[in-house]
Amino acid sequence: MAFPITRLRRLRRNETLRSLVRETRLTPESFVYPLFVCPGQGIRKEVRSMPGVFNLSVDEAVKEAHETHALGIPAVILFGLPEKKDEAATGAWSDDGIVQQATRAIKREVPDLLVIGDVCLCEYMSHGHCGVVRESGTHSLGAAAAPPVSATFEIDNDASLDILARTAVSLARAGVDIIAPSDMMDGRVSAIRKALDENTLTHTPILSYAAKFASGFYGPFREAADSTPQFGDRRSYQMDGANVREALHEIALDVEEGADMIMVKPALPYLDVIAAARARFDLPLAAYQVSGEYAMIDTAARNNWIDRDRVMMESLISIRRAGASIILTYYAKEAAKLLA
Ligand code: PBG
Repeated sequence: MAFPITRLRRLRRNETLRSLVRETRLTPESFVYPLFVCPGQGIRKEVRSMPGVFNLSVDEAVKEAHETHALGIPAVILFGLPEKKDEAATGAWSDDGIVQQATRAIKREVPDLLVIGDVCLCEYMSHGHCGVVRESGTHSLGAAAAPPVSATFEIDNDASLDILARTAVSLARAGVDIIAPSDMMDGRVSAIRKALDENTLTHTPILSYAAKFASGFYGPFREAADSTPQFGDRRSYQMDGANVREALHEIALDVEEGADMIMVKPALPYLDVIAAARARFDLPLAAYQVSGEYAMIDTAARNNWIDRDRVMMESLISIRRAGASIILTYYAKEAAKLLA
């Protein structure tokens, strides 16, 4: 039936009506808040490209954890800025690594808050890549031998798996509740699952960054986590932004390998991938509203070109509407306050 019998505006007349017929809702229970942990004491250093986001020493991260929990947000995801980087990513898997320390402190002080451990090597490798770097067809490179941008190098997939698995075990032992590999090496989910199980960590779930695209939107994160590759880029392991069928293939493989939850990243430029993943898979589906998405909204809002709160909520609801049940976002606390 068409106009004049049908008038869709009837249900838009006031907020109560609009709320009654609203199809999608945001709740703080679906948010995950990212924290960047650094060495030291009493440190709270704002990330230049992400106003409102900080590098935090462990004591300050614990304060954030308290606040996050008090706002009804169930989880934080931790990224680490190690004391020093090397060619073995020692800071990723050592027992006194910065994320391990932060995890122990947060689980001691705020036991009900879930701690998700991002498993990747880029923050801990001197070259800034997510896996082990080799000059094409040769041995592993020493730190001093990092080649110029033009040199041919490759990321050794299988050699990286051991370090990733070792990192996952170390994090789970420190008390991390969920392991979230973001490196995009092939076979990392099964390598991590196997290592966890062999170490009696059978109950620790894996949230796989299953479809992670090689994205320009990660720019500000690389400043926040000091993880910019020193040469080359990540296109040989992260996905090509043109591919949705390949994303579904990536996700299917991670599910087969034992992922308990899956993620699409970034979020806003890949809403179609989120929707396709939702239609195809029944596992809990997460999406990561990444640093560049945050920085764009923030910069426009600072110039009064857009209304910050409105655009923040609109971007978050669009990610929910596309089908993500979990949203990793730097806006977690602010959005939770607005929803309260
Ligand atoms: C680590 C990792 C990255 C992000 C999350 N985990 C950076 C990258 O892959 O370069 C990006 C998150 C963001 O931009 O907010 N590999």
